[in-house]
Amino acid sequence: MSNEDFNTKLSTIVKQLKLVIGVFVITIVVSIFYFLGFFDVSISNRNQSEIAIPKNDSADFWLAPDINSITDEKQKDLVLYGKELIIHTSKYLGPKGSVNQISNGMNCQNCHMDAGTKIFGNNYSSVAANYPKYRARSGKEEDIYKRVNDCFERSLNGKALDTLSKEMQAIKAYIEFLGSNIKKGKKAEGSGFKDLAFLDRAADAKKGKDVYVAKCQTCHQANGEGLLIADGTEYTYPPLWGEHAYNDKAGLYRLSNFAKFVKSNMPFGAVHENPQLTDEEAWDVAAFVNSQSRPSKETPNDWPKISEKPIDHPFGPFSDGFSEKQHKYGPFKPIKKKKDESKKQA
Ligand code: HEC
Ligand code: HEC
Repeated sequence: MSNEDFNTKLSTIVKQLKLVIGVFVITIVVSIFYFLGFFDVSISNRNQSEIAIPKNDSADFWLAPDINSITDEKQKDLVLYGKELIIHTSKYLGPKGSVNQISNGMNCQNCHMDAGTKIFGNNYSSVAANYPKYRARSGKEEDIYKRVNDCFERSLNGKALDTLSKEMQAIKAYIEFLGSNIKKGKKAEGSGFKDLAFLDRAADAKKGKDVYVAKCQTCHQANGEGLLIADGTEYTYPPLWGEHAYNDKAGLYRLSNFAKFVKSNMPFGAVHENPQLTDEEAWDVAAFVNSQSRPSKETPNDWPKISEKPIDHPFGPFSDGFSEKQHKYGPFKPIKKKKDESKKQA
């Protein structure tokens, strides 16, 4: 073999070696990116997930229909915009909203988990099949617009959205689409909240504070005011009290709603089949959070028939003689018993 032959051979081998090392390095780099991407499916990124598929362990529970099954492109776009508004309400309609500024910075999804599709996460499955319906709070028949605006005015401590606006039309289209697989008048399995037994005692805000410190405050913060993302357009962790939280006429201000919501959904990641709190912890932390300060709303026309007030509605007058304090914190069993008895007599 001549010297030249040897050199050509050597350079071919070196080239091949470079290629092999190159491929090896690229593989390593790609896997590192893959794993980084994998770990990035964290809380801050959960909102970006496409059409949410609820993870049910039982076929009996409702399952949201697939948006991709909508064939009319215009309708599909409207439904997708509605979903976007549920997930990122604040970006469009919060204090720095790009469309309008009519709400407190919270997103509908903060309380209607997984864009309103999670089992016992306050989902929207039964809305289309049951509205319009009579609601005792207003004493009137309410349609979906009215119900959505109730949450804007109370849970998002804001103003009603114009019924004819593209945003309201989109939210309605999305909610109606989600409930399109439920027959008129029927209730979907797993809608609203999972029932929670009453305690024999009043809920205890002092014990609830310990629960809050141990299990909630890393996310919702020691002052309860949550954590905004850097540009301030929405929350990573929504507020539980303070001036940007739901007001005192919102659904979560009722202790049973709050306790049921957190039992099946908090700390973030909890599911109804695998709750992270005992019943006592859920009731006590509800008492603690709902004894902190928050915006107050005047609603003189609520509950025109006072006998129809839910037992944990914390504002008098009442028809049953129990105090505001007991209606707020319990014990609820005696109130419930008296209510059931008076129903039987009626
Ligand atoms: C702070 C929590 C919270 C936020 C934020 C919130 N909601 Fe609600 N929403 C509730 C609660 C709690 C209920 C159930 C109240 C009850 O039954 O007393 C409810 C009920 C509803 C219902 C009726 C559900 C049913 O099955 O009858 C609709 C529709 C609704 N909300 C829409 C919205 C929309 C749209 C938004 C965003 C603009 C929103 N909500 C934001 C807490 C919230
Ligand atoms: C790991 C972080 C984390 C922990 C811990 C946590 N939460 Fe949350 N919480 C969230 C997030 C995130 C949301 C909003 C969910 C969404 O938008 O998908 C939320 C929403 C809520 C809401 C409804 C929205 C609102 O602001 O009113 C309540 C009520 C709530 N949490 C209570 C609690 C309670 C009580 C605890 C402790 C038992 C707790 N959370 C623990 C992250 C957390």
